Amino acid sequence: MKILIIGSGGREHALAWKIAQSPLVAKVYGAPGNPGIASLSKGACVPIGVDDFSGIKAFVEEKDIDLTVVGPEDPLAKGLVDYLEQGGDRAFGPSAGAAQLEGSKAFAKAFMERHHIPTAAWAEFDDAADAAAYVRAKGAPIVIKADGLAAGKGVTVAMDMDTALRAIDDAMVRHAFGSAGARVVVEEFMTGEEASILAFCDGTTVIPMASSQDHKAVFDGDQGPNTGGMGAYSPAPVVTAALERRILEEVLQPAVRGMAAEGNPYRGILYAGLMINAEGPKVVEFNVRFGDPETQVVLPRMKTDLVPVLIACCEGRLHEERIEYHDAPCVTVVMASGGYPGAYEKGKAISGIDAAEEEAGVSVFQAGTKLEDGVLRSNGGRVLNVTATEATLPEAIAKAYRAVGKIAFDGAHHRTDIGGKALRRMAP
Ligand code: AMP
Ligand code: GLY
Repeated sequence: MKILIIGSGGREHALAWKIAQSPLVAKVYGAPGNPGIASLSKGACVPIGVDDFSGIKAFVEEKDIDLTVVGPEDPLAKGLVDYLEQGGDRAFGPSAGAAQLEGSKAFAKAFMERHHIPTAAWAEFDDAADAAAYVRAKGAPIVIKADGLAAGKGVTVAMDMDTALRAIDDAMVRHAFGSAGARVVVEEFMTGEEASILAFCDGTTVIPMASSQDHKAVFDGDQGPNTGGMGAYSPAPVVTAALERRILEEVLQPAVRGMAAEGNPYRGILYAGLMINAEGPKVVEFNVRFGDPETQVVLPRMKTDLVPVLIACCEGRLHEERIEYHDAPCVTVVMASGGYPGAYEKGKAISGIDAAEEEAGVSVFQAGTKLEDGVLRSNGGRVLNVTATEATLPEAIAKAYRAVGKIAFDGAHHRTDIGGKALRRMAP
């Protein structure tokens, strides 16, 4: 089989790496992909952008691609899967209708209310003065979210009133997120520990993947501004077996049943971002795709061949699949460009990836890189996902940081406490 992956980040490199291990697969293409995907023995990249739907379709037909796997949310929300399927081509991911679960926070909140899925109390506003009056009445802490897709930057967790009112002003008056902020959702502030559950869905059946936890803040101790994710680990000990069952029964199954009942059957990955406290799990957000960097720690633990599972999702046969994971935990540490998540420089030469990967169980997934005259250079905020699997979590963490120590580029920075929360939870 020939498989095309849409996207260019660490998530897509991890997907290509896992898919390339399938004996069913002869070739994995990335559009536009990245040098990590191109370096796989079955890998190749083609310079087609994720929004170039006709270019993607032409490539699928020219190469006789058997399956297209869509990484990022934007092309999903814009209907890439619908477009390919209408042309008779197989594609993994939700339709544009189903992708509204991520594309509109107000849609997701109203959907959860209709289907009794636990989530924070909320209200939506099209008018800045109404939003401000509501926030004043509720008081801080409170959470302000731009309704539409804002590349992970549209959420403000406001610990005081000034911050909350400024967030409303930024989104609705200053249009900091363009049309994505014309409507805002205001949410009750939740406390607890966050975890991510990604689940395979075929429209009716749901199979959750192993749990994971992201680290969104840029600095150690969850300090500083939010990023796309500075590291992750799997499994997340906060998700006990009992919680896993509750998440399936209270969140994932009602979501998939609800989407089907409303005429938007959900196929693809449903990602539940959860807040977990003594009351149980509550949904912070739904995403309609593989998480980044969660995918980079979940896929290395997946024992089962990913490709038949993806195809079973497309064909409504997921109930036939049994999916197994290795017990060994996996950790990924993001190496980011100096300045990220603010303004940062690109083009720094990267050294040491081969040395880092010499140790068994280490994989360096490339997130923001480019190859220039044979030299690998940084080309984004998050540059590398240095990933390690080992028998115990402390060993996996130590191995990931040993690998980070072998890699260098100018201005690189990373968190030094990835996995720390899990260690504290596991401590006797
Ligand atoms: P989201 O993009 O909706 O996942 O929000 C980004 C981050 O903001 C989440 O990962 C949480 O850390 C935080 N957050 C979002 N909603 C809430 C909430 N209602 N209460 C507390 N923290 C939240
Ligand atoms: N790790 C957060 C996300 O993928 O949105």
